[in-house]
Amino acid sequence: MKRITAILALSVLSASAVADPHSFAKPEKFLVRHVDLDLRADFAARRLEGTAELTVEQVDPEAKELVLDTSGLEIRTVHLIEMSGHARVLAFRLGDLDPILGSPLTIEFPHCCAATAEMRIRIDYRTSSEAAALQWLEPAQTSGPHPFMYTQGQAILARSWIPIQDSPGIRMTYSARIRTPPELVAVMSAARVEDSAAAPGEHRFEMKQPIPAYLIALAIGDLAFQPLGDRVGVWAEPSRLAAAAYELADLQRMLETGERMAGPYRWDRYDVLIMPRAFAYGGMENPRISFVSPSIIAGDRSLVSTVVHELAHSWSGNLVTNATWDDFWLNEGFTSYLERRMVETLYGKRRAEMEDSIAYEGLVQTIADLKAAGLENDTDLKLNLAGRDPNEGTSDVAYDKGARFLRFLESRFGRPAFDAFLRDYFDAHAFRSMTTEAFRAELLARLEKPGAPRIAVEEIDAWIYGPGLPPTMIAVPKGVFESVDRVAADWRAGKIATADLPVKDWVPQEWVRFLDQQPAHIAHAKLGELRTAFQLGADGNAEIALSWLQLVIRAGYEPAFPDLEKFLLATGRWRLVETLFRDLARTEAGIALGRQIYAKAKPGYHASIRGAVERLIYPPTPAPEAGPAV
Ligand code: BES
Ligand code: ZN
Repeated sequence: MKRITAILALSVLSASAVADPHSFAKPEKFLVRHVDLDLRADFAARRLEGTAELTVEQVDPEAKELVLDTSGLEIRTVHLIEMSGHARVLAFRLGDLDPILGSPLTIEFPHCCAATAEMRIRIDYRTSSEAAALQWLEPAQTSGPHPFMYTQGQAILARSWIPIQDSPGIRMTYSARIRTPPELVAVMSAARVEDSAAAPGEHRFEMKQPIPAYLIALAIGDLAFQPLGDRVGVWAEPSRLAAAAYELADLQRMLETGERMAGPYRWDRYDVLIMPRAFAYGGMENPRISFVSPSIIAGDRSLVSTVVHELAHSWSGNLVTNATWDDFWLNEGFTSYLERRMVETLYGKRRAEMEDSIAYEGLVQTIADLKAAGLENDTDLKLNLAGRDPNEGTSDVAYDKGARFLRFLESRFGRPAFDAFLRDYFDAHAFRSMTTEAFRAELLARLEKPGAPRIAVEEIDAWIYGPGLPPTMIAVPKGVFESVDRVAADWRAGKIATADLPVKDWVPQEWVRFLDQQPAHIAHAKLGELRTAFQLGADGNAEIALSWLQLVIRAGYEPAFPDLEKFLLATGRWRLVETLFRDLARTEAGIALGRQIYAKAKPGYHASIRGAVERLIYPPTPAPEAGPAV
């Protein structure tokens, strides 16, 4: 009888019970349903300290041990909170430290507890001062006189600040009380609970929608808020608030565009938090409040696609979540596709095509790099990251190959039919996780229906399980950059003088294209002209600066190396940092310069970014067992 219950419970779990190679959790035994955090932020010690009370459901009535993910946590005590409120001490043990996964925390249950009951487990703990999810910023790294801290859970870092089942297939609600220095404000990926009786520096939150642990997020700093519509607004350090509000004027329209494409917005509010420059990402889709890099504030609203992207994750990623990090493309590929479609609606076809074209060039380069590094398997959409840090699988492949796959499907289905398919998908799987295989099965079933387009299973599988870009890829429209490309060639050939470049007509995306088109052997004198005529350097529009500095590296243009260093010291944003270090890592001289710059920049980078840079400029030496290369 008990066995039957367990099997039933397992089949109910189905989608979420797929094995996740990046978690010690055993969801077939117990499921964490709710987390109540009570934490104090200690800026001096760089630690969070307090309790996490987990509401746990027993799935397997025979189960005697609850296994949680942790990394570097100092666990003080574990208690079972009984119905009466009485706290009973539970025995626990921390397993050996795995360098990628951290340590399993195993909590033992005495023979006390009725099967299938919900239990409350209170864990008293503090984080390590080196916790990978946390970045503590000095006042000098902010735009005001106060320190700042934030958490970054994706992919498998939540366990370094909460003892939790840290697998994207396991969802939970949460609540929190956060205590901060009285002059600072806390925000979380949750609804703020106003409490007039709260002491200064005490902040309460409630997240009613179930989310995976990686989306539990906290930021603390000197923050102010400005509403930008009835459901949307922006948080930022006070000195940045006005510029942020100007840049994000379209936020409400973005939200409405998302709803028209993907179905109702299920998270009540959508706010953006503008982070300090050290923030590790262009954006992070924490539910209800995307954390966004200030590098998107260009003054002309030209870089807001990143916000559109994070907002789009409210459907692809946060509502329907990749079951494991091997299915990451289901998060990012869908999101990049939605982003592009939303940009088209919001800012027109031309802008969407320009961004698509730039992304495509990046993808082609990434595929070539992965192939050259012997990592061709990482160019499949479905990844196999077991035994590896899931961040290693974070490449343009998930984003842009994923988006191109959906673009291919769109072209076969026709837009209206494909849009309906997407809306159904988000609706049918809302607040659940998805594997690549389940998506594939659903797509194939849809193709059986009357009126469906003809798509061969081999065509689909070439995208999902095959390398590189399949022949069914829809070509990137050439037209958008035709005139810039002509100007670029003429300028290089000396037919157009630097002073006569038609830059007044260019949007930043055209600048990016112009710079990306220049070859490594370009004359340094020409680079000097560009640099002085248009003040190219470390400041200004971040995407133009990135393309300029890539060109500087490619051409070995030493006079601009100080700008490269300045840029890499000022930003901690993954794509900007990783792209430049990857380019540096292509030559011996570049590696030497990269190591020099990194030594200075490292203290300002988030742990994930350090890992990514170190893999590039300090590549692991191949193991001797690998044998001689053939
Ligand atoms: N979810 C990602 C950021 C991320 C990826 C964090 C993997 C940790 C592990 C976010 O949505 C993202 O893709 N950010 C991009 C911007 C986007 C416009 C491509 C970034 O940070 O550049
Ligand atoms: Zn994303």
